[in-house]
Amino acid sequence: MSAALLEVRGLSGVFRTRAGDTPVLHDVSFDLPAGGITAVVGETGSGKSLTALSILGLQPPGLVTGGSIRFDGRELMGLDEAGYRALRGSQIAMVFQDARSSLNPVLTVGRQLCDVARLHRGLSRRDAAALVEQTLARVAIPEPRRRMAQYPHEFSGGMAQRVMIVMALLCEPRLLLLDEPTTGLDVTTQADVMELIVALTQEAGLTTCLVTHDLGLVGEACDRVVVMRRGRVVEQADAATFFSDPATDYARTLLAANRDTVDQGTANQGTANQDTANQDTEPEGTA
Ligand SMILES: Nc1ncnc2c1ncn2[C@@H]1O[C@H](COP(=O)(O)OP(=O)(O)O)[C@@H](O)[C@H]1O
Ligand SMILES: [Mg+2]
Repeated sequence: MSAALLEVRGLSGVFRTRAGDTPVLHDVSFDLPAGGITAVVGETGSGKSLTALSILGLQPPGLVTGGSIRFDGRELMGLDEAGYRALRGSQIAMVFQDARSSLNPVLTVGRQLCDVARLHRGLSRRDAAALVEQTLARVAIPEPRRRMAQYPHEFSGGMAQRVMIVMALLCEPRLLLLDEPTTGLDVTTQADVMELIVALTQEAGLTTCLVTHDLGLVGEACDRVVVMRRGRVVEQADAATFFSDPATDYARTLLAANRDTVDQGTANQGTANQDTANQDTEPEGTA
């Protein structure tokens, strides 16, 4: 097996307020092996997003973190703002759940993508536009040139998510972090976006980390699974092992909840993807 591109060791996170300390991440350790897709799964509130944000130094200001995060052998904890800036986008790119709110509503989509291409690749205006058009076509956005002249509100949720993936790809990152990239999209669009993520990961030789509360989403797609619960990693395994023989009762519960959801989905056509894994497992310290 190839060496890990990212190694998280003993990551801790505490929200420090005047009212006291609330620990939310406890000794989180996992690897993202180079190449392929690792899914980080767990119920809502289990610490997935805070872990992903901490990798890029984007955690909320009240969160005090400790431990070690090594990217390609290099320690990231304690980097200064300039260090993170050099890393974000060009080495590690991140796509968030609500794509449209990550875009600037008053600039055309093409303008925003071209700005990224010019900044990260040092391209001329004309070369940037050509690359953006080509990359939009690659993620199956029809009529890319016409689309580039439109504003974010003219894009559907699924199309906006593709735009965010294009924005990440334009930076040619080595690691792509996707936090709930398909949550809020309808079931068919979710499947399309997942297919795209798998294809792009293979084509570009990317290392992809897919954060999701929805195990049903990752089944076919991922190579490895990391399970989080209440701010801890409770299991990590190859996908084949995980799905055929999960090690913990918690993973079995998640898998069973997902199976119910899938059955329901086929019965009621498209009402699937309730967060059923959430019942009776609310983490401590959640407002
Ligand atoms: N800005 C914040 N202030 C205080 N608590 C937070 C904040 N963001 C997240 N939390 C708490 O940290 C825990 C983990 O959150 P998060 O990483 O967002 O979970 P997930 O992404 O797995 O749904 C939750 O209990 C959540 O309530
Ligand atoms: Mg989250």
